[in-house]
Amino acid sequence: MHASQFFISGSGSNAERIITHFQKHESIKVALLLSNNSEAYGLQRAAQYNIATLVFNKAQFRESDEVVEVLKAAGITHIVLAGFLWLIPQNLLSTFPGRIINIHPALLPKFGGKGMYGMRVHEAVKQAGETETGITIHEVNAHYDEGKILSQQKCSIEKSDTPEDIARKVQQLEHRYYPLVIEKWITS
Ligand code: GRF
Repeated sequence: MHASQFFISGSGSNAERIITHFQKHESIKVALLLSNNSEAYGLQRAAQYNIATLVFNKAQFRESDEVVEVLKAAGITHIVLAGFLWLIPQNLLSTFPGRIINIHPALLPKFGGKGMYGMRVHEAVKQAGETETGITIHEVNAHYDEGKILSQQKCSIEKSDTPEDIARKVQQLEHRYYPLVIEKWITS
């Protein structure tokens, strides 16, 4: 049995899709949802599905092994980031080598890096006059949005699309593909 765990910072709409996708899965269990933000709506979503949650602060995350110890004790094998905005520290990277993935709401390597999250990404895509955008699911390393790319899915952008329209199209791709890519990543 693989036990996955999520790090989120905000809404958690992807986390909810992932939780429901694996609810009756024979070999993958969503064991834990972690957040640095005690107000994150995703914590409430997880509780609705009886998924254990944990909130941590920056010192616990960056300056101690507390989070790593919690994950080890829970038998976690894979980590999924879904809207988590902090860099992953070395102790987590070395405990879970190649076992941490993230989703980015654009086609990396374009429109990534520090500060590129949420609507900022879609506004930059619009500003650049791109005719397509999409999602990138990638391994996590010590740098923002630079790990090995596992999957990209695209959608087209019409001239009349606003950044909000682009965000909606990208979110549809996220909800559709992230659970499937996670399943393939863990089981293959
Ligand atoms: C998604 O757009 C994801 O690509 C990015 O953060 C957002 C999280 O959205 N990394 P939600 O919290 O899952 O609704």
